[in-house]
Amino acid sequence: MQQIINNFTLHDFSEVKSTNDTAFELIINNQAFDKHIIIAHKQSSGKGRMDRKWLSFEGNLYFSTILKIDNINNIYNYSLLTACILGSTLQEFNIKTYYKWPNDIIFCDKKLSGILLQMQQINNINYLIIGIGVNLKDAPDYAISLQDYNISKEDFLNKFTKIFNQYLEQYNNFGFLPIKNQWLKNSYKIGKKIKLSNNMEGIFKTIDDNGNLLLQDNNGKIHKILSEEVFI
Ligand code: BTN
Repeated sequence: MQQIINNFTLHDFSEVKSTNDTAFELIINNQAFDKHIIIAHKQSSGKGRMDRKWLSFEGNLYFSTILKIDNINNIYNYSLLTACILGSTLQEFNIKTYYKWPNDIIFCDKKLSGILLQMQQINNINYLIIGIGVNLKDAPDYAISLQDYNISKEDFLNKFTKIFNQYLEQYNNFGFLPIKNQWLKNSYKIGKKIKLSNNMEGIFKTIDDNGNLLLQDNNGKIHKILSEEVFI
């Protein structure tokens, strides 16, 4: 079933393996294009970052947004851009979240939402797939859900797409800097001691103009951490 909301075309499925995979399949078959969203009520093989699984309980939100992009050097800007869009969407429901580098949304110190970016060139066009899972109803132990807030998927997507348009316009007109500043205002553990997945430890100083994390080690040396390499 297809529906248009706020200039985004929605493809609604009851179950798929992964909405990211379905997005690529539909693009290849000329059935989905820029600013299309694939949503599924269940995923049988939901994917997380670093080859992890994304448990896909019925009731949560699973969707992938397709964006045609010109500059593939900037794709990691879209992680932080998407975090800002999700955070602003949740703010509309009076839910204050924090952005954990590079692409998690944190509520009450637990993971509420995750973002998986994938890119593929099809017919010489670069497509970025932004896969998003939001725990609206249920969550594994280490995470948190919004079950007490009664947020419908329709309401969430309606606000999300409206805010997505505003951020895209800002990004196209003014570049990454305003997004970076917005992200920093809501960042999780900034200025605090953190441990990365490669066991490096240090103070999370800031992010640079490309969205890389700057980590200060015990000797005061600053290390630039690229988002595709390491995560908190
Ligand atoms: C992470 O935090 O590791 C990223 C999780 C991303 C999950 C979403 S759910 C919709 C889309 N389809 C997938 O298979 N994964 C993403």
